[in-house]
Amino acid sequence: MPAPRTVLLTGAAGGMGTLMRELLPPYGYQLRLLDQLPIEGEPEAITADLSDRDALREAVRGVDAIIHLAGISLEAPFEKILRANIEGTYNVYEAAREAGVRRIVFASSNHVVGFTPRPVGDDPLIPLDTPRRPDTYYGLSKAFGEDLAAFYWDKHGIETVAIRIGSCFPEPTTVRMLSIWMSPADGARLLHAALTAENVGFTTVYGSSANTRLWWDLSSARALGYEPQDDSEPYAAKLIAEQGELEPGNPDHAYLGGAFCTNPPIWPR
Ligand SMILES: NC(=O)c1ccc[n+]([C@@H]2O[C@H](COP(=O)([O-])OP(=O)(O)OC[C@H]3O[C@@H](n4cnc5c(N)ncnc54)[C@H](O)[C@@H]3O)[C@@H](O)[C@H]2O)c1
Repeated sequence: MPAPRTVLLTGAAGGMGTLMRELLPPYGYQLRLLDQLPIEGEPEAITADLSDRDALREAVRGVDAIIHLAGISLEAPFEKILRANIEGTYNVYEAAREAGVRRIVFASSNHVVGFTPRPVGDDPLIPLDTPRRPDTYYGLSKAFGEDLAAFYWDKHGIETVAIRIGSCFPEPTTVRMLSIWMSPADGARLLHAALTAENVGFTTVYGSSANTRLWWDLSSARALGYEPQDDSEPYAAKLIAEQGELEPGNPDHAYLGGAFCTNPPIWPR
């Protein structure tokens, strides 16, 4: 497969999309932007909802690959998750199939395995094939997206790298994030690897930096050629002084998904 050049970035107005709009073009990508929200300073961006199949058909025309970030990124009522994340992701894959797009990078989430107990002490890293244990309707929708991607590979030959993103923000802001943080620069490195690795078929990876306190196995991401350069450890002393260490007895700290397991942050209605 020739290296993709023109890439549709869905969710381009969001937190990660905004970061990647800056960080991906230096790798040589020409980004086509899509979001339900208009993007200031980007007059050519496509403003469309994922339910608008005609707009998606137009958006995917002529692109080499898709980075699918758009969707609800927190817990929300099931009906909203169904429309944006489940039907919306289906619409993206259908548009890709119709247009002959051969590679999609899907923003999955650690919340697919959110109810997995977090490693403590010398516990081994969480492997990729740990059973899925979604912690929210949001996590369930990402599990659906992974299965949808596998189906479109098996049935239609569309390759996907599904990235179970930890948390991709400029800096870690919680003690939990010390274990799952993916620096924006590492996020761009991983997206680039996911777009360019050969013969990925359907591949799932965890997405984070090389954190000292890492909870999961990054070997499948590294197998794509991803070499993380960052580590959250320089932020550790300050965050632990402010928030304290994670406590095994605290239900918000017991699982990979953190407070999504107990008191998930809800998307505004
Ligand atoms: N940022 C992280 O740490 C993180 C962690 C795990 C997974 N993810 C996933 O990565 C993706 C990007 O995350 P983010 O933090 O940038 O989220 P975000 O909420 O900041 O951005 C999501 C974007 O998608 C757009 N969107 C939502 N529903 C849409 C629809 N129906 N049609 C068109 N656009 C729609 C929103 O307008 C928004 O701009 C999401 O799919 C999220 O679930 C992110």
